[in-house]
Amino acid sequence: TRPLRQALAKEPLFGRAVARTLAELGRRWRADAAKRMPEARGDIREIVGQPVFVPLYKLFLVYGKIFRLSFGPKSFVIISDPAYAKQILMTNADKYSKGLLSEILDFVMGTGLIPADGEIWRARRRAVVPALHRKYVASMVHMFGDCTLHGTSTLDRVVASGESIDMENYFSRLALDIIGKAVFNYDFDSLTHDDPVIQAVYTVLREAEHRSTAPLAYWNIPGVSMVVPRQRRCQEALRIVNTTLDGLIDKCKKLVEEEDMEFGEEFLSDRDPSILHFLVASGDEISSKQLRDDLMTLLIAGHETTAAVLTWTLYSLASHPEVTEAIRREVDEVLGDRTPTVEDFKSLRFTTRVINEAMRLYPQPPVLIRRALQDDKFDQYVVPAGSDLFISVWNLHRSPSLWDEPERFNPERFGPLDGPIPNEITENFGYLPFGGGRRKCIGDQFALFEALVALAMLLRRYDFVLDTSKPPVGMTTGATIHTTAGLHMRVKKRDLPGSHRQSAAAVVAATPAYAFAYSP
Ligand code: HEM
Repeated sequence: TRPLRQALAKEPLFGRAVARTLAELGRRWRADAAKRMPEARGDIREIVGQPVFVPLYKLFLVYGKIFRLSFGPKSFVIISDPAYAKQILMTNADKYSKGLLSEILDFVMGTGLIPADGEIWRARRRAVVPALHRKYVASMVHMFGDCTLHGTSTLDRVVASGESIDMENYFSRLALDIIGKAVFNYDFDSLTHDDPVIQAVYTVLREAEHRSTAPLAYWNIPGVSMVVPRQRRCQEALRIVNTTLDGLIDKCKKLVEEEDMEFGEEFLSDRDPSILHFLVASGDEISSKQLRDDLMTLLIAGHETTAAVLTWTLYSLASHPEVTEAIRREVDEVLGDRTPTVEDFKSLRFTTRVINEAMRLYPQPPVLIRRALQDDKFDQYVVPAGSDLFISVWNLHRSPSLWDEPERFNPERFGPLDGPIPNEITENFGYLPFGGGRRKCIGDQFALFEALVALAMLLRRYDFVLDTSKPPVGMTTGATIHTTAGLHMRVKKRDLPGSHRQSAAAVVAATPAYAFAYSP
């Protein structure tokens, strides 16, 4: 419009008025364009079949730290910026709900902590967080060691057979055994056997993942749960899991009635140190349904995530033998054949950094989901109430503007080992392995200890090498990042120079404060 405006400006009065109007219109148009969020339009088929965070990363490199992703009438706001993530998770957390996530998880978690919002979330968080107190976590560390030792019998059989083993499946079972004991004192013993309850738990977990990636919520159509075989199986699995949980809740209530223990801040019973026991003993008046929702939430939240962290840590180590050797030097010196105690955590600093780095490269979950309850503003862009937002933790953790060589596995990137353990605060919301703000993971310490114990004890005892006769390890997504076809590894007993391996029983006997009911 400039030549036209210049020509008109030469005309007295009328021409100048028109030129001024045109200039104002141009200014407004530019201002509106600047406020319009970049938009990526696509066909949903373009992203189905690959893990959703991979195309989101490519789009982030093109469209930047905030953009709208639209498929037909559906659209999502994709966030890949630490300051924006902090705004959503912390500063303006009041303006957001779990949105889509609550809808997807309702069938299995109901109003448990992860999907709950508002007053219910506040009340459940107040009730559940105190159960993970210092003494509880310390006692769990012993149990992590026992479960890891227990699993070595399976690995020993694999060593003897010369076959390879799918370590993703192994870690999933180890994590299930651990979380069953930790949350409701139930021994799945899935490392050594299968039963209908274990199968039912896996059916429910897979269904939750299926629902979080399916493009259409067909299960909400009336009658579908009776007709579609997958949905019928899910209903049956839910029935088995709920009956098992109801049985455990009843047993725990009886135990609380019988026992003569005063409830206090660090309540912990030798007979049953589970979270369920804490919740029942606290006298909190809640329905059995809410208690079941809480237990299912903890089971799911604590199981797949930790298993995935262990899987991708071992996968990363497979191509970094020098890092494995550095872990072993630390573990040999700090632990030897002992199972770790909570005090050892301070000394296993390098091993911790390895896990921190694996969680950077493979965040679980790779995307956090929110829905805006009110309008919110990110610099010049307004996100209207009702918008669904994805905070791409994957993008944050691999952002070229936040990390040197972001794709490289480098446990030393977080600075000196005697510095703080990296978290969302030390990395200013550029690193969110456990989320941040008021909805931050409540099991972060528990999970880090669990991964640390399992990794340290297994690397002390075994060599793991990728089985190259199997398909290459690819990624697929559910709630966490899975492999496409397993993490198949060949396992050998490690040569321990100058030391002879102790039996599992000898290790347990040598471990201090081995006081709880769990038997290895
Ligand atoms: C929430 C990660 C282990 C219980 C979260 C969140 C993340 C996360 C990122 C935030 C989700 C969001 O903001 O939308 C992990 C990882 C784990 C792990 C990577 C393992 C390495 C555990 C364990 C437990 C647990 C062991 C329980 C024993 C929870 C609960 C929440 C949560 C209850 C919801 C908190 C709330 O909304 O108030 N976790 N988690 N997590 N996690 Fe974990």
